[in-house]
Amino acid sequence: MTRGGALKKLIMRLPTSLSSFVLLLATTSVPLATAAPSLTQDSQCGCYLTNGTEAGYFSKHQFFDFRNLAQHAGVPAAITDFDENAEAKKTSQYFESPEWKDAWMIGSWNNSVGQRNDSSVKMVNSPNNVYIEANGDPHPASKTWLTLRTQRLADFQTAAEIESVSMRYQFVSMRMLARTVGASGAITAMFTYRGGQNLADVQESDLEVRTMDPRGLIHYTNQPSYTDDGMTKTEATANATMPDGLEWTDWAVHRLDWTPTKTRWYVNDHQVAQISFQTPRDGSKIILNAWSDGGEWTGNMSRNDAAYLQVQWFEILYNSTTEAVAATMSRRREDAHLLPIQRRGQQQDGTCKAVCSIDQTTTQGQPMMLWNNSAQVLTSRGGSLLSLVPWITAMVVFFMSTGFMA
Ligand SMILES: *[C@@H]1O[C@H](CO)[C@@H](O)[C@H](O)[C@H]1NC(C)=O
Ligand SMILES: *[C@@H]1O[C@H](CO)[C@@H](O)[C@H](O)[C@H]1NC(C)=O
Ligand SMILES: *[C@@H]1O[C@H](CO)[C@@H](O)[C@H](O)[C@H]1NC(C)=O
Ligand SMILES: *[C@@H]1O[C@H](CO)[C@@H](O)[C@H](O)[C@H]1NC(C)=O
Ligand SMILES: *[C@@H]1O[C@H](CO)[C@@H](O)[C@H](O)[C@H]1NC(C)=O
Ligand SMILES: *[C@@H]1O[C@H](CO)[C@@H](O)[C@H](O)[C@H]1NC(C)=O
Ligand SMILES: *[C@@H]1O[C@H](CO)[C@@H](O)[C@H](O)[C@H]1NC(C)=O
Repeated sequence: MTRGGALKKLIMRLPTSLSSFVLLLATTSVPLATAAPSLTQDSQCGCYLTNGTEAGYFSKHQFFDFRNLAQHAGVPAAITDFDENAEAKKTSQYFESPEWKDAWMIGSWNNSVGQRNDSSVKMVNSPNNVYIEANGDPHPASKTWLTLRTQRLADFQTAAEIESVSMRYQFVSMRMLARTVGASGAITAMFTYRGGQNLADVQESDLEVRTMDPRGLIHYTNQPSYTDDGMTKTEATANATMPDGLEWTDWAVHRLDWTPTKTRWYVNDHQVAQISFQTPRDGSKIILNAWSDGGEWTGNMSRNDAAYLQVQWFEILYNSTTEAVAATMSRRREDAHLLPIQRRGQQQDGTCKAVCSIDQTTTQGQPMMLWNNSAQVLTSRGGSLLSLVPWITAMVVFFMSTGFMA
């Protein structure tokens, strides 16, 4: 068969073959054009976009999963000596792991200095009250959780506090799957904290559960909630009821979104409070605790009674003050330190190409890639080359069908 003959045959067949050719093109092109959000790794995310009342972008993500730590589980007996509480060892190797130690410190301070004027009991924080506990629920949703315990002993209150190593969290969207259980007279809390010389310098946004309260009530406060001369600042506080008849003894996702203008609080994705007054401004720590000082705010615990903050996981999206400083400096010096950030999808001008979500995810703690702008840019720029692939495939099939290749 001559070339001319084959070409003639090809042209003659064109009308019927064209439809299958177009169909083939369309089907092979579709997967290239639409990329559905898919699970990815933090190393692939340039930034994270939150949902909720006001969407926000954050540059970093941390996830602490306490659900599968059976090898570290165990409930230590309370230490009845005041001094020994502060000196107690960590309760398991988990709290020596880099995963934990790089991010968290366990408090051992006491309230002998600067205690609230209404407090009626000495209180000491102890590493002995921070432990991994086996899940004993009837239909356990996890193997373990993290417990922060506070207990009233003969002549003092033993308490628990964990605080972030970093004090540079500046704007966050943080969430914990948690519950508060136990006796009346204690507080459990999740908050941002920046101390100050004077009361007025303190920057702090609190979630507080008081175990003496009705079980659906939560207090949210942008501190300080009172002045040096004892005046209450009512705008600083919002008292909210948990949605859907939930109680704080139920497992629920508690979320704080701290943005430059507001703090917003969610329970299981329902916004329950927002406060614009005294929104924290500067780099802060993240703290969780369980405590009581027998004062008016916490209430009194009866001797040997205890209360617990239990946390299955803690997740945080955040910007940090160090990062902004480092990025500015390295940009000025054209330092190679910025490169890893760029590789993660962050452009030199601070905008983000690879946008992820922890809200849309199918696996708690693992981000989904929402979109990758560099991929889109690359496809349209190198479009001619990339789109040749289905064309060539189609041509081959088409020619085969005409018998050209035979
Ligand atoms: C965020 O998105 C998830 C997944 O679509 C949804 O279940 C959740 O209700 C949303 N949260 C808020 C606060 O809108
Ligand atoms: C976090 O930092 C990014 C990049 O600088 C910025 O675009 C974003 O608005 C910041 N997020 C908040 C909540 O301020
Ligand atoms: C209690 O706190 C004070 C003040 O920080 C400190 O001097 C003292 O050593 C602490 N006591 C214990 C037992 O930790
Ligand atoms: C404690 O301090 C508050 C606020 O400053 C003040 O209103 C109250 O009178 C003080 N109480 C006592 C017992 O000193
Ligand atoms: C919130 O509750 C506390 C304690 O019950 C109360 O003292 C305070 O006045 C309440 N604040 C608001 C704004 O309702
Ligand atoms: C707590 O109990 C102590 C005595 O143990 C008492 O002095 C104090 O007034 C009580 N506080 C409250 C808020 O009931
Ligand atoms: C984004 O797409 C580009 C081009 O396809 C690719 O090189 C890059 O690895 C992608 N980035 C991420 C974070 O997926």
